[in-house]
Amino acid sequence: MRQSILAILMVAGLLLASQVYADPIVIKFSHVVAENTPKGQMANRFKALIAERLGDKVLVEVYPNSQLFGDNKVLEAMLLNDVQMAAPSLSKFKRYTKKLQLFDLPFLFNDIDAVDRFQQSAQGKTLLHAVEKKGLIGLGYLHNGMKQLSASKPLRVPADAKGLKFRIMASDVLAAQFEALGATPLKKPFSEVFTLLQTKAIDGQENTWSNIYSKKFYEVQPYITESNHGVLDYMVVTSKEFWMGLPEELRSEIKQALDESIAFGNQVALEKAVSDKQAIITSKRSEIIELTPEERAQWVAAMKPVWKQFEKQIGPSLIEAAYNANP
Ligand code: LMR
Repeated sequence: MRQSILAILMVAGLLLASQVYADPIVIKFSHVVAENTPKGQMANRFKALIAERLGDKVLVEVYPNSQLFGDNKVLEAMLLNDVQMAAPSLSKFKRYTKKLQLFDLPFLFNDIDAVDRFQQSAQGKTLLHAVEKKGLIGLGYLHNGMKQLSASKPLRVPADAKGLKFRIMASDVLAAQFEALGATPLKKPFSEVFTLLQTKAIDGQENTWSNIYSKKFYEVQPYITESNHGVLDYMVVTSKEFWMGLPEELRSEIKQALDESIAFGNQVALEKAVSDKQAIITSKRSEIIELTPEERAQWVAAMKPVWKQFEKQIGPSLIEAAYNANP
């Protein structure tokens, strides 16, 4: 009797062990944008590469459009292992580091090439580690593009923005940027922006061509000023606990697939900055305002004093290094 109980227990143990071994590691990748965006495409490519190369060991599940978590909750959820990967905008890490506020400084980078040069520099790469003390690991940067200003009225000079309400990401730099214009900034999740604009609870917002197009903001914003005043880029992150808990060989294969997916997403970002802008022009739903050099100089003069406000928190040498990435 005792022997047969022992035998049953052993078989049960073996079954359990084989079950544990057979279950793939699940990577939930949560993001807030549409699938047809640089981040959406990057995440889908990552899922496909992992399925192709590590299909029996790792399963990537992608949750777009804030289906699983909004960007305001996703990092907390990551630390609880409820989600394993995400790529929030660099503007959304305030609670984890002050250094990344660098990327929100208005008119710091002339274009995405300058952003890329800085991110690939030694100082740029070091910033990927800025969130480690809080239990997160930056696995790489991903581009979206330069931000434009959309509004219910034409914005040609900074004075036009005075008194208007703008939705911003949860960033103090962005709040200061709109305050410098005499406007009211409101920190709201991305998932609420369309409704806020449609119901006229806010007057405007800032975003990339890709986000303005894919989330149909242009249908409820009659004017878009091509200001290129800031950058919206991402950091692909995971939790230290999850990442370091992976077998080493698997970790390097996952990282390889991720790097390739990011390179692909960056290519999509370049294309979308042109094609989504063109699609908005073609739709005739929104008028695109191009600034003269004199008008642009007024925006720079109005917004750039914000740098001084955040110089201490970010570090003057970091700001200088980023600025020097411009040609
Ligand atoms: C936003 O909140 O406007 C963006 O960060 C959304 C995104 O992830 O591109």
